Amino acid sequence: MKVGFAGWRGMVGSVLMERMASERDFELFSSRFFSTSNRGAAAPAVPGGEARLHDAHDVSALGDCDAIVSCQGGDYTAAIHPQLRAAGWGGIWIDAASSLRMNEDAVIVLDPVNLDVIQAGLARGVRNYIGANCTVSLMLMAIHGLLKAGLVQWVSAMTYQAASGAGAQHMRELLLQMAYLSDAVRDRLADEGSAILEIDRAISQALRSDKLPREHLETALAGNLIAWIDRDLGQGVSREEWKAGAEANKILGRPAMGQPGSIIVEGICVRVGAMRCHSQGLTIKLSQDVPLAEVESLVAGANRWVQVVPNRRDETIRMLAPAQVAGRLQIPVGRLRKLAIGGEYLSAFTVGDQLLWGAAEPLRRMLRILFDRRN
Ligand code: HSE
Repeated sequence: MKVGFAGWRGMVGSVLMERMASERDFELFSSRFFSTSNRGAAAPAVPGGEARLHDAHDVSALGDCDAIVSCQGGDYTAAIHPQLRAAGWGGIWIDAASSLRMNEDAVIVLDPVNLDVIQAGLARGVRNYIGANCTVSLMLMAIHGLLKAGLVQWVSAMTYQAASGAGAQHMRELLLQMAYLSDAVRDRLADEGSAILEIDRAISQALRSDKLPREHLETALAGNLIAWIDRDLGQGVSREEWKAGAEANKILGRPAMGQPGSIIVEGICVRVGAMRCHSQGLTIKLSQDVPLAEVESLVAGANRWVQVVPNRRDETIRMLAPAQVAGRLQIPVGRLRKLAIGGEYLSAFTVGDQLLWGAAEPLRRMLRILFDRRN
């Protein structure tokens, strides 16, 4: 099997490369690396990798691969994928971008949750396998046990999404904003006797100042939050919020949201000043009043990565936090309790690394699934 990689140098691509190297995935197939700008330069040194970079727009070099993994972005997919298919390429396209996700001829991959949907897709000849929106993947991994048990009627997800979800430049800008704010009060902070309201006034001014770096984020994220993510779809819904219901049902192999047999996933998506972990406060309407101990055991037993955090102060602060989860594959779920609304209403809070399970990991694992199927 020959696998082509496009966009392997970007943020998601780099995380993918690191994970593949550490899981020794490259030893399973030969690899060809593509570049939009550096054709002919040295390719990354991986076992079974070709020495030189190919042009990422060379349809014949791409078409020579059995599978292509793209983390190059939606514009690249939109430009190249139709050309490849038009040229008769029958290989497997694996993509992090959202462009093809909702197409009839694409499966959204999150194999711990939907291996059956992926296998059914492969069996009927589907050739496009697309990673889900990060928030959706992380939420489904977290409540997988309840979904498997058929207990979920609807979910309201209030998200706290990290800067990484918007891109590398946004992460950098968040840090520049933090530095700008801290510079604005450096002297006052050093003086223990200075008045906190003066410090607060200076910070408020700095947050509203034209000099605050905001080229990518558009507004302050440090010391602030942004209650809208992605495009405005009209009717008060952001594209990020729409994706939750649309993608969750597709991943689970269910009818479109709103149709009989679907689950409703609704909520408000918010950007906060975390670096790379998305958090979500969930309200879940269960189909029956299941005891909390059973809920905890279903959630904990669903997959290898989910971890139930006891709903107590110390464990929550220590374990259920973006700073703890960054760079890890574990998906902690805590704050599990029945709400005063009634025994069928469950609260949960979950945190997950947006670049790992939210982006790179399902793509890496899709290659493994392909490899296993061919051998
Ligand atoms: N759209 C997500 C975000 C990241 O903006 O956080 C990618 O799924």
